[in-house]
Amino acid sequence: PPLDQCFNLHDFESVARQVVKKGTWAYYSSGADDEITLRENHSAYHKIWFRPRVLVDVEKVDSSTTMLGSKCEVPFYVTATALGKLGHPEGEVVLTRAAGGHGVIQMIPTLASCSFDEIVDARRGDQVLWLQLYVNKDREITKRIVQHAEKRGCKGLFITVDAPQLGRREKDIRTKFDGAASDVLRYNPSAIDRSQGAARAISAFIDPSLSWKDIPFFKSITKMPIVLKGVQRVEDVIAAIEHDIPAVVLSNHGGRQLDTAPSAIEILAEVMPELRRRGLQDRIEVYIDGGVRRATDIIKALCLGAKGVGIGRPFLYAMSAYGEPGVARAMQLLKDEFEVGMRLVGAKSVDELGPEFVDARGIGVH
Ligand code: FNR
Repeated sequence: PPLDQCFNLHDFESVARQVVKKGTWAYYSSGADDEITLRENHSAYHKIWFRPRVLVDVEKVDSSTTMLGSKCEVPFYVTATALGKLGHPEGEVVLTRAAGGHGVIQMIPTLASCSFDEIVDARRGDQVLWLQLYVNKDREITKRIVQHAEKRGCKGLFITVDAPQLGRREKDIRTKFDGAASDVLRYNPSAIDRSQGAARAISAFIDPSLSWKDIPFFKSITKMPIVLKGVQRVEDVIAAIEHDIPAVVLSNHGGRQLDTAPSAIEILAEVMPELRRRGLQDRIEVYIDGGVRRATDIIKALCLGAKGVGIGRPFLYAMSAYGEPGVARAMQLLKDEFEVGMRLVGAKSVDELGPEFVDARGIGVH
């Protein structure tokens, strides 16, 4: 179907499913084990209802915000997803160009198909990029990746902490890794097992011994704000605050790691009241990702205290199906939905959003 027949993020998924290679679909779409968390990520949003406010002048709506101190036009960002060239021959730069056109922040994966320099060079003006970090056993490799990113103007370091080992995504395991994006494995290609899917092939890169003890090391090699991506309970958010970490991403890695881990929106609903009880709510920015497919999902997350949300698969699908115009349209649709959602909820700007705009009893908030 022509691009102008895509009217929401789900439409891109249906098209991508038909047009991408089998192995690509397996890697992009899969979740761990029985994919219960994968399904829950999106359906959790359906347990939250709005409490719209009427008779507010919403002629002008301001969707802009800041994330980690950087301005952005909307409160969502492109989260890190590895192996962009499985879906599009040009890889992640396609996402970069679209994000640049929309004032959207992009998180670059360590295991991107494009090199970090190619992505930085595809940037528009002072477009903001973050780096997602998989920590390698060889800390010199890690140090080189981090310091290079900082030198090239990267504005945040997101250390993935939910993947000491990659989860079992069986659709992916059944497919042989086709190597189309093999330049991602440039860091230590000899350790690669190509026989069982893309996730297995990249698993060898990651150091499972990573722990809280390593945080000072990261602080010693960079001035970028350090963010933990993949935190899943309130105790660990508090530990992050104790380690002077300025932000966390509540995430279950798009349902790709521990199956039956809770959705990020439910963790958020537990975390924020606890932080408020302890007077810690201003000490840390909390982001969430997983299953965000509608602007109403984003608005709910903001109401419950998220500073912003990450979106993964929908942009990969838009990229795979239609290239840069597809990703740009996906972003525009989401911006349009966001503006409509804000008007109908009765909020003029993102800082007006709060828990009073939602009924979250369905996820245990009373
Ligand atoms: C991911 N994700 C991910 N996360 C990360 O920290 N490093 C990575 O390399 C990847 N790679 C990756 C590949 C693919 C194909 C997917 C779908 C996801 C997880 C990602 O950052 C994010 O947590 C989820 O994708 C969010 O869920 P949605 O928006 O895809 O539902």
